[in-house]
Amino acid sequence: ARTYLVTGAASGIGKATAELLNSRGHRVIGADLTGTDINADLSTVVGRETLVKQATELSGGVLDAVIAVAGLSHPIPVTASVNYYGAIATLEGLRPLLTRSAAPRAVVVDSMASLQSYDEELVQLFLTGTEAQAVARCAELVESPATGHQIYSSSKRALARWLRTTATTPEWAGAGIPLNAIAPGVVLTPMTKELVATSEGRAKLNEQVPMPLNGPFDPIVAARLLVWLADGENSHLCGQVIFVDGGYDAVLRGDST
Ligand code: NAI
Repeated sequence: ARTYLVTGAASGIGKATAELLNSRGHRVIGADLTGTDINADLSTVVGRETLVKQATELSGGVLDAVIAVAGLSHPIPVTASVNYYGAIATLEGLRPLLTRSAAPRAVVVDSMASLQSYDEELVQLFLTGTEAQAVARCAELVESPATGHQIYSSSKRALARWLRTTATTPEWAGAGIPLNAIAPGVVLTPMTKELVATSEGRAKLNEQVPMPLNGPFDPIVAARLLVWLADGENSHLCGQVIFVDGGYDAVLRGDST
């Protein structure tokens, strides 16, 4: 049995992942705002410190895998803090615990939204600026409904870029830790509940995010892929953002390779 740390474990994809790991006999330390082993607000510095401190205590200082799922999709600045800085603080902060495992793995949940319209200035601030600068840019984007939604897509785009450049570094690949991401299409969780509640909403979503293979799916579909990426069997995937999206990525940029 392995020990896993899963953020966002109280709901949706994180919850399905924790349940799947438990059903396979592994130990899961869950983290979320409330309702799991570690209650921590990953949009704050204090919450990120709490996560690392309590994960160290509860795990005895060794984790076999970190699965960073926690995220927000609201068009508000805090989305930037959770999706980008919270996810990276989770991965970087818990990396020392991974180095003590015989088969360490790390996975983060990105999104098909990383392929949608985004704000290049915000993406650059994520990658090279400070959190305060990125949050200030978000406050500007929020002022117009047309740009508010770009906070989410920009956070996921920047996270994917961070991942692809970080995964090959001495701290990750060089230390024998595969670091990868999944980018789901539309998943039927509380996050998308309102969008799919009406037939008009479903039609609009289908237009915006076409998923020719089987359409929107339950969180267990994403959980199975996360669990494999976090398993010892995954020895050579490095810096990949794997789209589990019913074909949306292929529809959008099938001619890119
Ligand atoms: P969800 O809303 O069911 O679960 C997200 C969890 O993250 C919640 O339990 C929430 O409390 C937690 N969380 C939010 N802010 C937090 C904070 N500040 N500190 C700690 N935990 C916090 O949503 P879902 O769908 O399971 O989302 C999981 C991940 O999947 C997110 O990163 C999301 O962006 C991503 N995703 C979801 C898609 C979907 O269609 N549902 C599509 C693509 C990506």
